[in-house]
Amino acid sequence: MSETYDVVVIGGGPGGYVAAIRAAQLGMKTACVEMRGKLGGTCLNVGCIPSKALLQSSELYHEAQHSFASHGIVVSPKLDLKAMLDRKAKIVEGLTGGIEFLFKKNKIDYVKGRGHIDAPGQVSVTEGDDKGKVLTTKNIVIATGSESTPLPGLDVDEKTIVTSTGALEFDKVPKHLAVIGGGVIGLELGSVWKRLGAQVTVIEFLDRIVPNMDGEVSKTFQRTLKKQGLEFKLKTKVTGAKKSKSGVELTMEPAAGGDVETLSVDKVLVCIGRRPYTEGLGLDDIGVERDKRGVIQVDAHYKTNIDGIYAIGDCIPGPMLAHKAEDEGVVIAEILAGQKPHINYDAIPGVVYTWPEVADVGMSEEKLKEQGRAYKVGKFPFMANSRAKANDATDGFVKILADAETDRVLGAHIIGPAAGEMIHEIVTIIEFGGSSEDVARTCHAHPTFSEAVKEAALDVEKRAIHV
Ligand code: FAD
Ligand code: NAI
Repeated sequence: MSETYDVVVIGGGPGGYVAAIRAAQLGMKTACVEMRGKLGGTCLNVGCIPSKALLQSSELYHEAQHSFASHGIVVSPKLDLKAMLDRKAKIVEGLTGGIEFLFKKNKIDYVKGRGHIDAPGQVSVTEGDDKGKVLTTKNIVIATGSESTPLPGLDVDEKTIVTSTGALEFDKVPKHLAVIGGGVIGLELGSVWKRLGAQVTVIEFLDRIVPNMDGEVSKTFQRTLKKQGLEFKLKTKVTGAKKSKSGVELTMEPAAGGDVETLSVDKVLVCIGRRPYTEGLGLDDIGVERDKRGVIQVDAHYKTNIDGIYAIGDCIPGPMLAHKAEDEGVVIAEILAGQKPHINYDAIPGVVYTWPEVADVGMSEEKLKEQGRAYKVGKFPFMANSRAKANDATDGFVKILADAETDRVLGAHIIGPAAGEMIHEIVTIIEFGGSSEDVARTCHAHPTFSEAVKEAALDVEKRAIHV
């Protein structure tokens, strides 16, 4: 039986489910096709949320072992990994169930199975509970997300050689975990297992970790993680892996070529980036344009080259972040409703949820130099922040970059406690086209970590008070 919708969204992740909810709020008859059996996509099921749950638990365990005593709290912590994993699973279940509730509340049809675009205006479901269902619709929004990029020569089995999905489920703490890729996933999940007792070796192809971040931050970040016991092999490429009963033997060589070396570990996490997931959608048959990496090409209104077919989230260009996907979900629904919304891609924050956290928004110094723009730098270390002192959280700094002439804030980079929360002050400033003077003149409560943001803004004109 065929039904007619205003919009059918394929994919129930942060991009897709938000698009569906906003479309329904705007009065459109909406369906969302999801094949995972759960709503929430990568983010809620095997990404943002489970990783943050484990980061929080492992941080508490580590603190109980190493920090409580300095506060005069004497404990003998013991790890119950099963309980930790069960807690994570419960959080995920609660949140994915919450999205299902929101779908019901907004009268969105949740169609379980794999969506296939037969033609513009027609989506069929080829697997799952609703197999055989054909949906006719005025508009199709593709929000099918991304998947882990494979590394040739390493066969992922999600037990010994794993992607992030397997690394969220180890039932024993690995003795030695090799992390291939010193990016966001590698450093977050590497931190989790290091805190729980594993030896962790991060193997990165380039000469620094988190290579897209401001260089100064990435250097401090690596130094801080090294102090915590993570080991790094930079400028190194993994060329093969041999599995044995006891684990895996990795073969590596310098990225520029040279002598081969081996590393024996019991688990390997492959996290060298993610690529769009558009399998089985039928895009080639209907001629939806993608680039060499499979990224769906869209115009400024998220329209593909085919009328009536739109795409958002990880499967289109831009940072692969849940909040970017969500914002695009809102915007595409509003565009389909005839509104004229807009996203400022210069004001999308990025956060790495390690200890300390690392957060940024806008331009890095490297990018400003590349563009030949004149800029001023203001910096303030958490070592000189009283709340950071009181909390024993003095690693890191705030750095603000402002236009040399107009003082307009162009970027901010924070490594330190609660960096992921503090960055939003600068996101808002950038969104409003504000200056470092605006931040410097804003009253910040004392004692807070955020005072370091104000002091960094004062330092743009070299008048910070506490250094
Ligand atoms: P997805 O969340 O990938 O959702 C796409 C959905 O589409 C999936 O559920 C999939 O099953 C479904 N689908 C695909 N094809 C079909 C089809 N043909 N029919 C039906 N359904 C289909 N981002 C952050 O901002 N913060 C974080 O802290 C963070 N942590 C992360 C941690 C990890 C370990 C990983 C892997 C990612 C993390 N991310 C984080 C990235 C974030 O998960 C993604 O950017 C976000 O999920 C993208 O949303 P999306 O809706 O575009 O795609
Ligand atoms: P990433 O792009 O962050 O990092 C990949 C790293 O692997 C880079 O440093 C790259 O230089 C390196 N690399 C590439 N090829 C390599 C090779 N052959 N050998 C060794 N190193 C190699 O990708 P990652 O960590 O896989 O995460 C994917 C995406 O998921 C992120 O880009 C991010 O968008 C999202 N994510 C976001 C999080 C957050 O916001 N906190 C957390 C986790 C993931």
